[in-house]
Amino acid sequence: MILKKLRAEDFRLCGDAECVFEPGVNVICGINAQGKTTLLEAAWLLTGQRSFRARSDKELVRFGAESARVSATVETDGRDFECELILGARRRVTVNGVKRAPLPLRAILFSPTDLDLVRGGAAERRRFMDAAISQLRPAYAKALAEASRLYEHKTRILRDGDPAMLDVLEDFSLRYAAACSRLIYYRNAWCRRLAETAPAVHKAIGGETLELSYKTVTGVDPEGKKPSDIYPLLVEHWRAHREAEIASGSCLSGAHKDDIELSLDGLSARTYASQGQARTAALSLKLAERDISTLDTGSPPVMLLDDVLSELDPRRQDFFLNSIAGGQVLITCCEDEGVSSRTGGKVLTVEAGRVRQG
Ligand SMILES: Nc1ncnc2c1ncn2[C@@H]1O[C@H](COP(=O)(O)OP(=O)(O)OP(=O)(O)O)[C@@H](O)[C@H]1O
Ligand SMILES: [Mg+2]
Repeated sequence: MILKKLRAEDFRLCGDAECVFEPGVNVICGINAQGKTTLLEAAWLLTGQRSFRARSDKELVRFGAESARVSATVETDGRDFECELILGARRRVTVNGVKRAPLPLRAILFSPTDLDLVRGGAAERRRFMDAAISQLRPAYAKALAEASRLYEHKTRILRDGDPAMLDVLEDFSLRYAAACSRLIYYRNAWCRRLAETAPAVHKAIGGETLELSYKTVTGVDPEGKKPSDIYPLLVEHWRAHREAEIASGSCLSGAHKDDIELSLDGLSARTYASQGQARTAALSLKLAERDISTLDTGSPPVMLLDDVLSELDPRRQDFFLNSIAGGQVLITCCEDEGVSSRTGGKVLTVEAGRVRQG
């Protein structure tokens, strides 16, 4: 998986930024607020995921412009895919000229906020699962979009508390349970693989014994079950909480509270991990995600590292850089920090939204 070329036009502060990337390490350098993260953000959109920092596409359009354009050449399995995204009032996507085709990039983003993956709230870990699984399983991305839409409808009806809407509520709840049964099925399968992969990575960095397990709706054990077996359990849970949902005016049953429980040497990592321990565990999770994606597809995903190296001590930096060698990496940093000399990477310099190769 290689991102060969990327062009961002009227995208945030970039009028026209063009990058040509190497298959190995690419170091994106520049002082603050020049457009380094912006370039990773443009690259990330080629995975079909939403931006990791914008609430809407409108934010991505350069002030004063009508729309933004991101275009790229992505190579996967020896084939080139020409991608184009037009962002504005409506998003338009074409891949090799085909409208609404799935975007081909597989990538893993790692930024300083991901260091909160372990000690932060469950939403962080759901975002981690969602981004990882969506890129491997298109059916998951579909179920996720559907579940989010239904959750919003359901929440609105419950909040408004209009008795005339109770019939509709029943229908939305059943459809929401169906979408959640698919999410739970995929999340459970992926977390099982993560639980097999991450502890060894964590040991290799010199960490403690890491254990993890997927947590979903109380009383629902997805192990060995298909979505059609999970669905009745969710419906049962929802029926038991139906009155409570109406009384509280909020959605109490479904996969929107899911989490990954992590422990280090048997202690809850979220509660007890030190900052350094939490960072190491976050690193292990991201590297394990990379291993799973590589095994599944036969090639490593592109690693997008936003300012993350400076947050790690030299030992973790070396471990991390060694672990991701062999695939394509885009790293942003304020100064080169010796990254390009250590990795033999190409340097791209960003200044006021323009890119200079070298
Ligand atoms: N829609 C937009 N139109 C024009 N400029 C924008 C838009 N959105 C963001 N910017 C500007 O882009 C700049 C930030 O770019 P970016 O986050 O890519 O910087 P960076 O090089 O990663 O900086 P740092 O080293 O501080 O992380 C900010 O100064 C911001 O005002
Ligand atoms: Mg930045």
